[in-house]
Order: sequence, then C-alpha cells, then structure tokens
Amino acid sequence: MKTRVCIIGGGPSGLLLAQLLHLQGIDSVVLERQSRAHVLGRIRAGVLEHGFAALMRLARCGTRMDQEGQIHHGFLIAHGGRLDRIDLHKYSAGSSVLVYGQTELTRDLYAARERMNGSVIHGVQAVQPQGLTSASPAVTYRIGQELARVDCDFVIGADGFHGVSRQAIPPGVLKEYEKLYPFGWLGLLSRTPPVSPELVYAKHPRGFALCSLRSPQLSRYYIQVPSSERVEDWSDEAFWAELERRLPRSVADKLVTGAAIEKSIAPLRSFVAEPMRYGRLFLVGDAAHIVPPTGARGLNSAASDVHYLYHALLAHYQNGDDTGLDGYSAKALARVWKAQRFSWWMTNMLHSFPDALAYDQRLQDTELAYLFSSEAALRSLAENYVGLPF
Ligand code: PHB
Repeated sequence: MKTRVCIIGGGPSGLLLAQLLHLQGIDSVVLERQSRAHVLGRIRAGVLEHGFAALMRLARCGTRMDQEGQIHHGFLIAHGGRLDRIDLHKYSAGSSVLVYGQTELTRDLYAARERMNGSVIHGVQAVQPQGLTSASPAVTYRIGQELARVDCDFVIGADGFHGVSRQAIPPGVLKEYEKLYPFGWLGLLSRTPPVSPELVYAKHPRGFALCSLRSPQLSRYYIQVPSSERVEDWSDEAFWAELERRLPRSVADKLVTGAAIEKSIAPLRSFVAEPMRYGRLFLVGDAAHIVPPTGARGLNSAASDVHYLYHALLAHYQNGDDTGLDGYSAKALARVWKAQRFSWWMTNMLHSFPDALAYDQRLQDTELAYLFSSEAALRSLAENYVGLPF
C-alpha cells in the first residue's frame, strides 16, 4: 500500500490530522492496534480549549461539539473551608473552555473519516516504522496472519505513551524527562446530574478531589489515591463516601450518587521526550509528552502538535517549503513545556503529598492564598487554563 502520510494511532490526534490533511487533498492511512469499540470505550479528558475546538471545525467535525459542548466561563477551587471561583472570562480577556468529552470527539472524528472514506485500519499488530532516515520510509505490520506494508513520505507517531513510534528513535538521539507522582486519580463516571454546573477542584487534607461533568446528566468525579491502590478494592459506595468527605459541605450536600458506568485509576505522570522528530518520523501528543490531568492540558497539548504539524505538512506539499517540518520539534516542545509547567504547578498546589514537610504544607496554603489575593496570579492561571496561543 502507498500513501503520503502514515499515521500510527487512531486516537483523537491521529484522526484529526488525517481529517485535516484529507480536506487538503493529502492522503493518509491510519493504523490502530485496538478495535474502534475499544478506542471509544476509553473515558478520557473533557475540557477543550478554543484552539482545539477551532481545529475540529476546520476539520468539519465541529457540528455536534458546538451543539452539545458546554462553554464554561469559570471553575471553582475548594480549599481550607473556602470555595473560590476562578473567573476565566474576566482574567483571560473574555475567553472560556468547552466541556465536551474526548470520547464524543473521537466518535465525531471516526464518523467524519467514514463519510470521506478515510482509511483507518484496526487490529494491526507488530507495527514497525522502517527507514525513517531515508527518503522513502515505510511502516510494516501484521493483521491476522498477513504481513502488510505502507510506503509513505512521512510517519506520524500518534500512538500514545506506550506506543511503538517513540521506541523507533535511537536511544542516543532521544532524551526523556520524567517525573512520577506517588498517587493516581480514581475516576468514576455516573449517569447522575453533576453536583455543580462548573468544575470543582478540591484541595483537602485527605487528598485532592475533582467534580467534573460530560453533560447535564453525566458526571465525572475523581479522587486522589495512593499509587498502590487497586480499582477492584473500591466499591462505588466507598468512592462516593470518600468524595463527599473531601468536598465542602455546601457542595457535598448536593451530591447525587449512582452506579458507576466506568471506574478506573490513572497514574499521575509528567513526561517529555525530545526531540519530537527523527528523520521522517514526527511524534504527536502522548507519544511524546504526558501531563498529570490537573490542568486539563493533555488532549489540548496534543491539539497544538496537530496544529503545527498540519501546517508544516501543508507547506511541504503545497509550496515545497520545509521550514515548518524542520522547526516542528522546537516549536511544539516550547508549548509542551509550558503545559508541563502549568500542570506541575496545579498538581503541586492541590494534592496531598505523603512526605510533605509542615513547611511545604504552609507554602501550599500560601500559594492558594496568594492566588486569590493577586489579579496577576489569577490572570496567569486563567491564560494557561484556557490555553496559551499556538
Ligand atoms: C475530566 O472531566 O475528565 C477532567 C476535567 C478537568 C481536569 C481533568 C479531567 O483537569
């Protein structure tokens, strides 16, 4: 098989890039290890910045997102018995975020790929990028008993943190930066009305908690748990009881509990791989960088990679101009590191750290006290949360 761009990974980044390129007459093949049902069964992020929403519209995939997504002008932080609001609209010069689940967004992207007869091949195994430093790279894989090969101009690694793409960069070239946190988030999705119309981030001595939502009837809640915890050991009742303990009374009183539709633990990790390009391989999203979910940056950071890479590929194919491709890694990483900084800062401010000194705890409280006493600090939080410019 021959195509121009072979995209490894059928998550939101890979599908969005394929869709954008297709609309410009640039053909691609998307290879995905899992089935479509599996990809759509994953519950992931829910907060989109407007830059991402604009890309979805550009990809002609924004109709349902614009109908069903909810614009949020602010969110709440519960701390030390207070419930303070971050007015995103006021402190980010009129901006906001869009609450629309990654699952729905991926569903819209699949539907668009199908409408346009885009090639998405599921169930591929033993995927291996080849000849990345040559002028004619390829990706080989196995499907069932058959061996197959896609010859292409470029390989895009959009296959997530555990994917094969990053491994194709020689260890002497690749530098990885990683920080693991000693806790994870236990998340629960339930068909219940959300406790609050705006997200509530709660700092509590027992650990962090987050009240989020997907729609007026679908809630998403998280609690910080030690890394050693197993999801099997958490009944729905235990989850609700612990969540309630960590919320201010005024919020907890409104909590509507129900059966979990999905429950899982996500470890908290900060990770960056540099460079994001090796020969004709370009990494996108989680394949190159991971953030703890506290600042809602994960999916949004993937979107800025897609934005830079889309424009770089367009310049290559339409004008023979490779400056975008040559500058991709540096440009993407500059923004990626800012998202790392913000996510690290939010995580440190709001979580309980098992080995924190009393001194560290006072600093943490002071961070919040400073935040809510300083317009400059609120502006800094807001500009990062709604998304730095591409
Ligand atoms: C979510 O709804 O899943 C969510 C929202 C905000 C975050 C993290 C996760 O910061």
